[in-house]
Amino acid sequence: MRFKRHYLYGVILILAGFIVINVVIIEKHTHGTKMEKDLVATLFDRKSHHSRQIRLLQERDTTLGPESDQPAYGMQQDKNKVTETPVRHDKPPIEHRIEAIPEQALLRGKFRKLKSYLTIGIPSVRRQGDMMYLYDTVSSLLRASTDTEKNDFVIVIYLAQQDQKWIQEVLLKIDKLFSTEIESGLIQVISSPAKIYYDFTHLIRTFNDSTERVQWRTKQNLDYAFLFKYCENLSTYYINIEDDVIPAKGFFNSIQNFIRRQSVDWFCLDFSSIGFIGKLFHSRDLNLISHYLILFSYFQPADNLIDYMKKITTQFKDIRHKPSLFQHRGVVSSLRDKKQLIIDKLFKDQIAVSQKKYVIENPKANIETDMIAYDHYVPNSPYLVGNDLFWAFNITKGNYYKMIFEKPVNLTKIYINTGHEKKPHDILYNGEMKVGTSDLKCNRTETLADFHETFILDQSIPNDITCLVIEVTEDQKEWLIIREIALFQY
Ligand SMILES: *[C@@H]1O[C@H](CO)[C@@H](O)[C@H](O)[C@H]1NC(C)=O
Ligand SMILES: *[C@@H]1O[C@H](CO)[C@@H](O)[C@H](O)[C@H]1NC(C)=O
Ligand SMILES: *[C@@H]1O[C@H](CO)[C@@H](O)[C@H](O)[C@H]1NC(C)=O
Ligand SMILES: *[C@@H]1O[C@H](CO)[C@@H](O)[C@H](O)[C@H]1NC(C)=O
Ligand SMILES: *[C@@H]1O[C@H](CO)[C@@H](O)[C@H](O)[C@H]1NC(C)=O
Repeated sequence: MRFKRHYLYGVILILAGFIVINVVIIEKHTHGTKMEKDLVATLFDRKSHHSRQIRLLQERDTTLGPESDQPAYGMQQDKNKVTETPVRHDKPPIEHRIEAIPEQALLRGKFRKLKSYLTIGIPSVRRQGDMMYLYDTVSSLLRASTDTEKNDFVIVIYLAQQDQKWIQEVLLKIDKLFSTEIESGLIQVISSPAKIYYDFTHLIRTFNDSTERVQWRTKQNLDYAFLFKYCENLSTYYINIEDDVIPAKGFFNSIQNFIRRQSVDWFCLDFSSIGFIGKLFHSRDLNLISHYLILFSYFQPADNLIDYMKKITTQFKDIRHKPSLFQHRGVVSSLRDKKQLIIDKLFKDQIAVSQKKYVIENPKANIETDMIAYDHYVPNSPYLVGNDLFWAFNITKGNYYKMIFEKPVNLTKIYINTGHEKKPHDILYNGEMKVGTSDLKCNRTETLADFHETFILDQSIPNDITCLVIEVTEDQKEWLIIREIALFQY
């Protein structure tokens, strides 16, 4: 008993100490000399973030796609310019306001008389090579819904680019494809005035991100702020998706049921685990979220900010619908294993993700595997941009992990890494890398080379590859983490 009490006192003492130290740091932060301030600022910028945030940072391409290389309005054009020391924003845009005047923003569609149940917001920007999944995404939303359901939601497509020529091109296509839906008010297309952006030239480079990336994600935050503001009165709920996702059939019904099932107050429901896809809010909160995103627009990417906002609004846990209702296009996992839910989550402790070696976009592929995923470490994670990984257990001889490409590819380098610094034993011990070149179903493959822990190949790679297969050649009792897959096409 006495021992317990001492123990308790000890804990309290340590906590108190921790608080005092923090207060001192914050004091210094506000009152210290300039040098101290800079030091603390640097510490804050570099240390205080959670690994998850680093991961999310890398997911820029999963939120708005590869167009991230396009400098946004007001951005510096010089890609390689990286300032060495963090620059304080001399005029933090606390006063920055974003107005969304519906009549001015609306390019196509009309306002319905009655408020809808749900607004589906889709920001879209120009992609490299003018690849547009937007039309497919919208079509698949329509296909996945019944006519009655279509009366209950509205799709808002936000063309988030100050490029009138591009906007006109997209509108032309949208007119052709969705005239009925535009006529009925089911689809609205909007754009924003250039004044929603402020000057991006002197932003703080948090996370040691390049100037270009900071500008890119700052623009993205302002875009969301505009879209949210625009949508605040359209419906009761709002869900954000991206322009390159595929919805599950009956997604609308599942969303309604999930909302109905909630018994406690919530701020955000998650219908996907990637970036800013499938986050659902009460529309009444959109105005607040919009202000919040503007206020902190240059510090962190939107999905991080939303994670914090959950906590600010006292939702301390994620409320996630399983399975995801929105798949990121190009990489569709075939794994539908329920067994993962039976596994005790405490059996293996959660691991923090850490940065991948390369940030590249792999060729579009379907991932198929018969390995059993642990928790949310799903098969397509290492294949996507972002720092998530695939963690599987019960690894037996013959298990495979197939990457089946949408069309044949020529690769100059293959880099695949297994294991993790926190779990150094969870590597592939005995495996083979196989390659298919003859058919798009990946039925016939030949062995490229053995695979132990890491696979790197940058010569003698066959042309016109249709699939790559990692095959396990011996049972292993250790679990397997596939950490990173980078396939270089040029
Ligand atoms: C910051 O980024 C630069 C260039 O990208 C890199 O050389 C440097 O090591 C990074 N610093 C830290 C502390 O990560
Ligand atoms: C939404 O409605 C409120 C209250 O009528 C109004 O003040 C606000 O401007 C409206 N927002 C938009 C974007 O129309
Ligand atoms: C492990 O895999 C083997 C072969 O794939 C299977 O027979 C066995 O049932 C699996 N065990 C578990 C616990 O899933
Ligand atoms: C791959 O390279 C070969 C030889 O250079 C060429 O014939 C083929 O068209 C290329 N395939 C693709 C998909 O680029
Ligand atoms: C290839 O596999 C698919 C299913 O995986 C099967 O439907 C098809 O018949 C196979 N084709 C050949 C040529 O074996």
